[in-house]
Amino acid sequence: MDFKDKIDINNLPQHIAVIMDGNGRWAKKKGNQRIFGHKNGVKAVRDTVEGAAELGVKYLTLYAFSTENWNRPKQEVDALMSLLIATINSETDTLIKNNVRLLTIGDIDGLPKNVSKNLNELIDQTAKNTGLSLVLALNYSARWEIVNAVKEIIAENERTPINVENIDNEFFEKYLNTKNIPDPDLLIRTSGEFRISNFLIWQIAYSELYFTEVLWPDFRRKDLYEAIMDYQQRERRFGMISEQIKNNN
Ligand code: IPE
Ligand code: IPE
Ligand code: MG
Repeated sequence: MDFKDKIDINNLPQHIAVIMDGNGRWAKKKGNQRIFGHKNGVKAVRDTVEGAAELGVKYLTLYAFSTENWNRPKQEVDALMSLLIATINSETDTLIKNNVRLLTIGDIDGLPKNVSKNLNELIDQTAKNTGLSLVLALNYSARWEIVNAVKEIIAENERTPINVENIDNEFFEKYLNTKNIPDPDLLIRTSGEFRISNFLIWQIAYSELYFTEVLWPDFRRKDLYEAIMDYQQRERRFGMISEQIKNNN
C-alpha cells in the first residue's frame, strides 16, 4: 500500500535521521557475504533520498559508518570504504540534478584520504543547491562529537575567555557538527534493533522514534512514507500538556 497521498504535506518532519541497519543479516539470509548487503543498501539509500526530496523534506541524515565500525574485520571495513567512493562517484550527477546539497557530520579527516577528498569535492559541487540537505554521518559517534565540542570550547576559551554565564544549550550547539542543522523530528532505525548506537544523542532529545523490522537493503520510499504517517499520528508535547498543544494549533 502506498501511503504517499495520505501524508499531510503541512506536517512533514523537517529533519529525518536514519540508522540504516541490517545489511549483514539481509545478505546472510540470502546466503551471501555481508558486503553484498552493503552494496544492496545503496539502492535503499537512493530510493529514500529521492522519496524524501520529492516530498519536500528539508534534511535527511543517514548514519553510514560509526567510529565503532572500525572494529569490524578489516576486509569489511575496506570494502565499505571502496563502496563509499564508488557510490559518491556514481551518485554525483543524480544529486546535482535533483538539487540535493551534501553535508557530512563526523571525523571526515579520519577517513582514508581518497574518501575525504571525494567527499569534499562533492560537498563543494553541491554547496549552492537549495533542495534536500543530505547529511552523511561518517566516522561519526555522538560521544566523539560531544567530546570534540568540549575541546573546541576550551581551545577558544584560551584565545578569548568565555563568560560561563553565556554557556547554555544554544551556545553549546554551535560547537557540534550539526550546527545550523535543526534537530531531527523523526528518527528511524531499521532491522528490529531498539537502540541508538551512539547516534546524535544530544540532537534526538525530543525526536520521535520509529523502529521497523525491515532490513535496510529492503527499505524503500513506501517504508519512509509509513514512518512519516506514524509520526503524523503523534502528539509532540515537549513537556507541556495536551490542552496547551491543542490551543496553540
Ligand atoms: C548497517 O548494517 C551498515 C553499517 C553499519 C555500515 P550492518 O552491517 O550493521 O548489518 P547487520 O546489523 O550486521 O545485519
Ligand atoms: C549502527 O549500526 C551504525 C550504522 C548504522 C552506521 P551498527 O550495526 O554498527 O550498530 P550495533 O553495533 O548493532 O549497535
Ligand atoms: Mg548492524
